[in-house]
Amino acid sequence: MFKKLALSAVTALALSTTGAMAAGGAGHVEDFAFSYEGPFGSYDQEQLRRGLKVYTEVCAACHGLKFVPLRTLGDKSGLGYSDDEVRAYAENFEVYDEELEDTRPAKPVDHFPANDAAGAPDLSLMAKARAGFHGPYGTGISQLVNGMGGAEYIASLLTGYTGNEKTEAGTTLYENTAFPGGWISMAPPLSDELVEFDDGHANDLHHLSADVSAFLMWTAEPKMMERQHAGFVAVLILTILSVLLYLTNKKIWRPIKSGVNS
Ligand code: HEC
Repeated sequence: MFKKLALSAVTALALSTTGAMAAGGAGHVEDFAFSYEGPFGSYDQEQLRRGLKVYTEVCAACHGLKFVPLRTLGDKSGLGYSDDEVRAYAENFEVYDEELEDTRPAKPVDHFPANDAAGAPDLSLMAKARAGFHGPYGTGISQLVNGMGGAEYIASLLTGYTGNEKTEAGTTLYENTAFPGGWISMAPPLSDELVEFDDGHANDLHHLSADVSAFLMWTAEPKMMERQHAGFVAVLILTILSVLLYLTNKKIWRPIKSGVNS
């Protein structure tokens, strides 16, 4: 985890000048508290499931997740659906089968469909692609200090509409405080109570945004938990090893050192 953070920080530092210039002014990213932050954090399964529902009912109309295999919805460290649930969910989508030369309902071995219809970017890796450039002057400092990454950016984007619009060269642009440059061509996709949950979970704009952002973090980093935990164990083992080496060193040199002293 530390290595990953250090690497992102170095990359962010190296790229910050070009990134900031290309972006034409960085947007404002809020800190959202996600369950997976910190060395002991893990994805909140219920939140991922709500996020999938928001994605399916709203975002999938324009966006795709073409790098995400549907079968990963069964991952225990992720959404943890049963085989039957994964199969039932997959059948929501139609995919083109080259052998049949026709479309058929998707199966768990297929990926989420791509979607180029609205000119919207694929969201599979978006949470990673947008992870590094926030905080003061796009240095990625906030990512190090507050655990702020791509999910925060997406959640801030979804909640960052000011309500102002303008038309430029025939395209409607919406003012957004998180989007670099301040104007995005995506109309505000979420609003209070747009998606209903069976368990009656809170579905105001803020919650819906956080849920779908956590889900998109999972699509980009499905193995984040395993890596974080492996990293933590590695640090622990290295610490114990250092102590042992220190004590061994003392013990080996003790006779010589005491000899000098006497
Ligand atoms: C009506 C179509 C439409 C819907 C619905 C929609 N989007 Fe978008 N989205 C777009 C378009 C178009 C863009 C490209 C905007 C641009 O670059 O100006 C975009 C861009 C994005 C971006 C990238 C912003 C960036 O930094 O480049 C993210 C993230 C995003 N959408 C998330 C979502 C999420 C999450 C949902 C569901 C809650 C959603 N979108 C629903 C059309 C849509």
